Amino acid sequence: MWRRRFLGLGGRWVKNGLCSFNGRSNSSSDSRLSVSLALSGAERPGEPEVVRIQGWIRSVRAQKEFTFLHINDGSSLQSLQVLARPHVDVSNITFGSAVEIWGKLVQSPHKKQNTELIADEVRLIGSCNPVDFPFKIKKRHSFEYIRQFPHLRCKTNIFSSLLRIRSGASAATHSFFMNNGFVHIHTPTITSNDCEGAGELFQVEPASKTAEKCHTHFFDVPSFLTVSGQLHLEVMTGAFTQVYTFGPAFRAENSQTRRHLAEFYMIEAELAFTENLKDIMEVMEQLFKTITFDILSKYPEDVQLFHKDVAPGQEERVERMLKNPFQVLSYTEAIDILQRSTESFKFEPKWGNDLQTEHEKYLVQHCGDIPVFVMNYPYDIKPFYARDNQDGPQHTVAAVDLLVPGIGELCGGSLREERLDLLRSRLKQHGIPDSYQWYEEVHQFGSVPHGGFGMGFERYLQCVLGIENIKDVIPFPRFSHSCIL
Ligand code: 4AD
Ligand code: MG
Repeated sequence: MWRRRFLGLGGRWVKNGLCSFNGRSNSSSDSRLSVSLALSGAERPGEPEVVRIQGWIRSVRAQKEFTFLHINDGSSLQSLQVLARPHVDVSNITFGSAVEIWGKLVQSPHKKQNTELIADEVRLIGSCNPVDFPFKIKKRHSFEYIRQFPHLRCKTNIFSSLLRIRSGASAATHSFFMNNGFVHIHTPTITSNDCEGAGELFQVEPASKTAEKCHTHFFDVPSFLTVSGQLHLEVMTGAFTQVYTFGPAFRAENSQTRRHLAEFYMIEAELAFTENLKDIMEVMEQLFKTITFDILSKYPEDVQLFHKDVAPGQEERVERMLKNPFQVLSYTEAIDILQRSTESFKFEPKWGNDLQTEHEKYLVQHCGDIPVFVMNYPYDIKPFYARDNQDGPQHTVAAVDLLVPGIGELCGGSLREERLDLLRSRLKQHGIPDSYQWYEEVHQFGSVPHGGFGMGFERYLQCVLGIENIKDVIPFPRFSHSCIL
């Protein structure tokens, strides 16, 4: 069996670019700097001495001689300290206001920062009434409180850190696949299939449907927001050996749990010419480890905020996940472990039933708090596409879930049933309509054994950062009874 070679971290850290431009009212002799670049203390040979920083005020402290301000522009967790002498008017500057500051960067006498800015001018761009503003200076607000303000929460330290990490993890995902020879496919958002067969679909129709037209569909057939791009990726394995997609998936699940959303992001990969679940598991493990190494090295301060303040002990947990090979269990072994445990589960572990979150968490703990693959699930509980292991007496399919600490299921994948006769009878058994004719044809013309998986991006972020609630790792959470903004 040939093996795929995975490139590890690759790529060095590229700092926030220095962006000089001559704006409307700005003189050409100033240069706009990001806060992170200003804080880095990097030399700027040939650049003007006066710099311009744009951002939002995180603190104002008036002293006898100076007023100290802190400005943040989203480029780093740390804010830049600004000294305003008495001749600089800062009378209308408050916590939360948007400002533009001109001044000179000097070495800071403080240990905590390299650089500070001596302001020549502080211009108020957007005022902010600190009494009405829901976030208070220097106060640590709870996630529950912050969540009430999806339109403002990017202004908090914790959520801006999360968004930077999320953005970095997203870039690292694309790099991982690109560095390893996968082709990125834009799978459709609107589809006429229910890949998972679970019926958790949002139907798509024009909002302006008139009474006389309401008996026809816009696309002539019922159409839905996608629950997974898998079937479209499978199409691509007819011409590409490795493909991936990374986009939103939608599920009309009524569950209000801390790990379910109605709209979430899924990373999905599909590999052609594979007959072994181990190939799929290897990609899952390397993907998890590579993205994690990447964000730990590029966003250390942001990650620390979570690991120190939000989830103490998380740093060690992540280290353990990265250092150790992921564990592997068969579903049958997993059930056996659960049945032998002294834990009192709400749902009795029984061969043939799906694993519940409580079971998944127990299994991860049992394996030393290291992610664990559970493979070969009962035939009757997995979707139609999972490849029949043709075993007995306990009939299983070649499906695998990756369970991780704190979360439970992070990835779901399988080998796909490529044998046409078995596929046809499975589709029939699931009562799947003739509209899957095209799926049968995919398996008729130069089809190869293939398989793949999907990883929930929000659950990944929860797992690495130690965040309890999935609503705190996505910019605008959608869940039943809530679609704010
Ligand atoms: O296990 P799932 O349902 O697998 C599939 O959709 C496959 N078609 C993927 C594939 O093989 N290409 O979903 C994959 C992952 C889950 O393990 C979970 O992490 C995440 O997607 N997920 C959700 N995340 C947040 N909210 C929800 N409602 C989710 N449903 C699934
Ligand atoms: Mg699943």
